[in-house]
Formats: sequence, structure tokens, C-alpha cells
Amino acid sequence: MTASGTFGYGTEYGHLFDIERLGAIVSKGTTLTPREGNPQPRIAETACGVLNAIGLENIGVSALIKEEAPVWAGWRVPVIVNIAGETVTQYAELAGRLDGVAGISALEVNISCPNVTMGGDEFGAEPGPAARVTGAVREATSLPVLVKLTPNTADIVKVARAVAAAGANALTLVNTLRGMVIDTRRRRPLLGNVTGGLSGPAIKPVALAMVYEVAGAVKIPIVGCGGIATANDALEFIMAGASAVQVGTAGFANPKAPLEVIEGIEAFMEKEGVGDIAELIGAGRRLPPSP
Ligand SMILES: Cc1cc2nc3c(=O)[nH]c(=O)nc-3n(C[C@H](O)[C@H](O)[C@H](O)COP(=O)(O)O)c2cc1C
Repeated sequence: MTASGTFGYGTEYGHLFDIERLGAIVSKGTTLTPREGNPQPRIAETACGVLNAIGLENIGVSALIKEEAPVWAGWRVPVIVNIAGETVTQYAELAGRLDGVAGISALEVNISCPNVTMGGDEFGAEPGPAARVTGAVREATSLPVLVKLTPNTADIVKVARAVAAAGANALTLVNTLRGMVIDTRRRRPLLGNVTGGLSGPAIKPVALAMVYEVAGAVKIPIVGCGGIATANDALEFIMAGASAVQVGTAGFANPKAPLEVIEGIEAFMEKEGVGDIAELIGAGRRLPPSP
């Protein structure tokens, strides 16, 4: 899958490669009303990664239903809509509005955005609020519900367990890690929002460990995300226990990265004589041999 916020609404990429070969496309985070996002600058490159503080700029749910969903309805690739609210009620309302809309295959509930003042990762940091959002969305829709967790929490396993118990069908792990850059010449934070969310290869080991830990604690499927740029990265997440993966930041430098990950996994399976990807899910969950 493509990771939310890094592949627009999918329509922008059709001329670059056959997007219908993807497992799924996850849309940019969608809110009840359109948002302009945070002041510029909103992106800063860091060692092995990117800091972003977009602040959920998006067209709003009405335009998404009117303009994007009809296009998606004609595609063979499923589209998952990433939703974000400032209150539990807003999440439920969004889920209700998107229920039954042709072209939408599932919802990904973003309780993990570090770049907004209301909502965002404040819902994802604690098991109680995370479960309340999940339960409200679950009740408001008949679509499959993925809940996207934040690494900016003391205990992601506790949050994951609460979200699974509240009715989530799957978990996406993880969103960006809170970080910042200071412009030393101007002596102030570089990003307009002061802090941002770190993504890219820098966060891969952190995301991988979280997938590993959560996969040992919940029974629902996990979608691994965080720094995946190659098939080998994706295989690490799958072997840690993820049933699927998302590619985000890697697509900025190489828009075909998600497709190359798929092709690389296929090549690995052929070389290793693996007939079914299910054989690889969690296959790396063993202790290293003793010396
Ligand atoms: C520019 C940018 C915008 C993003 N927007 C969203 C968003 O709207 N909703 C969301 O859940 N995650 C958003 N994310 C987080 C990504 O979906 C992903 O979880 C994160 O970047 C880690 O994966 P990566 O290292 O492969 O990019 C965004 C990330 C970036 C870099």
C-alpha cells in the first residue's frame, strides 16, 4: 500500500506507473471541513529522513466524496480513506459520511498525527481515548476499520490492545515520530509548526520493533509502515509479523518504490521457493541461535 499523505489521492500518479498493481492506495488524511494546513516551511530534510508538519491540509470530506471517490470507483485497486478529527464525534461523523460511498474500500483512522493542535496523536497516545475513537468509528460504519497508531507513546502495546478490543479490524504501525530542526543562523525552529513528524529510513528500526512487539500481543492483522524503501525492508516488517506494508517517504525520491517493493517481494518468494506470503508473516519471530 501507499502510506497516507505521501501519494495524494492516487490520481496524481496514474501517468507514472500502473497504480492498479498496488495492493491498496491510502488517501491523504481527510477531515470534515477543508484544511489549509500549517504555515510554511512544512518540510525539512534530516539525516536519513524527512520532517514534515503539513498539518492535514486536505480538500475535506464533501469534495472527496464528490470528486475523488467516483474516480476510485472505476479502479480495480482498493482505496482506503485516512480520516482525522478533533473530537470523537467528528471521527464518527466522518465514518458515517463515508459509509456506503462507492470507491471506498476501508477507513484508516489517524489517531496519530503529531502536527495538529486539536486531536491527532493526543487520541493515540493513551489506550482510553484511542479505544473511544475506535469504538465510535466502528459503530458508524460497515467498512473495515484500520487504526493507525503513533510511536509517540509510552506503551504502544497497551494502546494496540485497547484498539483491538474496541473493534478495529487491523492496525497500521506507525505514523511519524515527533522531531524538530533549529535554523541556527536565524536562531529559531525551522518548521513553521516548530515540531514535525520524522519519517523515512531513520525511523525504520523503531517502527519494526513496534510491529514486532504489537504482533506478539494482538490477533488482528498489522500493516507495517515506517522507512520502508525496498523489498528487503518490507520483508523485515512481514517477518516481524506484519500482514501488509505501506511505503511513504521513499516514494518522494522514487515514485515507483511501492511497485518495486511488490516486485522485489515476488522475486524473493520465487528465489526462496515460498508459494504463499502467509508463510513469511511472523517468520522472523524467533530467537537468534545461541553462540
Ligand atoms: C508529507 C507527509 C504527509 C503525511 N500525511 C499523513 C496523513 O495525512 N495521515 C496519516 O495518517 N499519516 C500521514 N503521514 C505519515 C505516513 O503515512 C507514514 O506513516 C510515515 O511517513 C512513516 O512512513 P514512511 O517512513 O514510509 O514515510 C504523512 C507523512 C509525510 C511524510
